[in-house]
Amino acid sequence: MREVAVIGIGQTKVDEHWDLSLRELAGMAVLDALADAHLDGAQALYVGNMLGGSANSQQHLGTYIADWVGLRGAEALHIESACSSGAAAFRSALMAVSSGAVDVAVAVGVEKMTDSPGNEITGELATAADADYEAGMGLSFVALNALLMRRYMHEYGWKHEHFAPFSINAHANAVHNPCARFHEPITEKSYLRAPMVAEPINLMDASPIGDGAAAAVLVPLERLNRNNGRPVIRVAGSAAATDTIAIHSRRDGLWLRAAELSARQAYAQAGVGPQDVDVFELHDAFTIMAALSLEASGFAERGQGPRLALDGEITPEGKVPIATRGGLKARGHPVGATGMYQIVELVQQLRCEAGGTQVPGARVGMAQNIGGSGSNILTTILVRE
Ligand code: COA
Repeated sequence: MREVAVIGIGQTKVDEHWDLSLRELAGMAVLDALADAHLDGAQALYVGNMLGGSANSQQHLGTYIADWVGLRGAEALHIESACSSGAAAFRSALMAVSSGAVDVAVAVGVEKMTDSPGNEITGELATAADADYEAGMGLSFVALNALLMRRYMHEYGWKHEHFAPFSINAHANAVHNPCARFHEPITEKSYLRAPMVAEPINLMDASPIGDGAAAAVLVPLERLNRNNGRPVIRVAGSAAATDTIAIHSRRDGLWLRAAELSARQAYAQAGVGPQDVDVFELHDAFTIMAALSLEASGFAERGQGPRLALDGEITPEGKVPIATRGGLKARGHPVGATGMYQIVELVQQLRCEAGGTQVPGARVGMAQNIGGSGSNILTTILVRE
């Protein structure tokens, strides 16, 4: 297998893009990434997307987007893995380049959710759960996460207010990210006063619906032009793991086994451990998911994720900076695009291009993208050489 580098990134702002189609959003990110890589084409395109068929009446996204960006003739595939579709597209591009099958691959994640009424999108998102035993019984993703959060609070004695720092950190960081959905900082008071969605999850515990696209260009490390003065960003670890699709089938519903498995493999590949990670872009679709992800990935003891946040360790100045560009909570969560936003944001951090939320001296970055309620999880580690 060949070592692989990320040499170009592109992204759109996460927003309500009613004037842009799925292909226009994806195209903007892909063409920006190619321009950033100083390339005008690629041999392969991998598109991460979850809801194109149901929300946008458009499938066949590999061809649809390759055609739009002028990659006719190239290999082009659509990869679907619910909310982890973005990281799955990145991993597909990585496999293609590291195996030697392809020399230049582009991975793009794209999603366009805001054209549909909220109740329809909620139903479409729930197709990532178990249709017979979860969604079919009326459970939405907010409701599933509310059950987990309620149980977690019961088991470990945390109160709702103890989750506030996750949301406050995400919104504070998003202020400095022009591509983020929200640019207003929040306070503990506004967190506590936010409208309830599915108790105990309120508006400030949940990521928003949004539209956006993010992309990256991957090439073999051996073919890199090392004389252009740019930092070299190498893919040091990439692993994927699954768990049961329904939460009730798990022996321990409060442990993200797929996060543990994929993180452990990615650490081993990269030759690092949690103590070496300078930035962790985790999947804070809900504040409870941020806590569970920190624990399963080895950053906090079981049941102690909120402690890290309460101690101020998750900010850009802390021991485990998370959601440094706003995270899913405040940059936004256009589901199939999210995993690619995380990669783009890690590259920004490792290139020292993260502006007001730059983590000083960041060299090792980790991203974790979760599909379903922890049922399909990909962990990626990037390192600045
Ligand atoms: N955080 C902060 N503000 C939010 C927000 C969020 N999560 N969601 C919406 N808002 C804001 C909007 O910007 C809008 O503000 P404005 O009035 O100043 O323009 C206002 O709240 C109302 O927005 P609206 O779109 O009508 O909200 P909603 O009540 O329809 O939806 C949720 C709110 C939380 C139900 C929706 O965002 C949601 O379903 N989130 C979860 C998505 C999900 O499950 N993703 C998959 C996870 S794996």
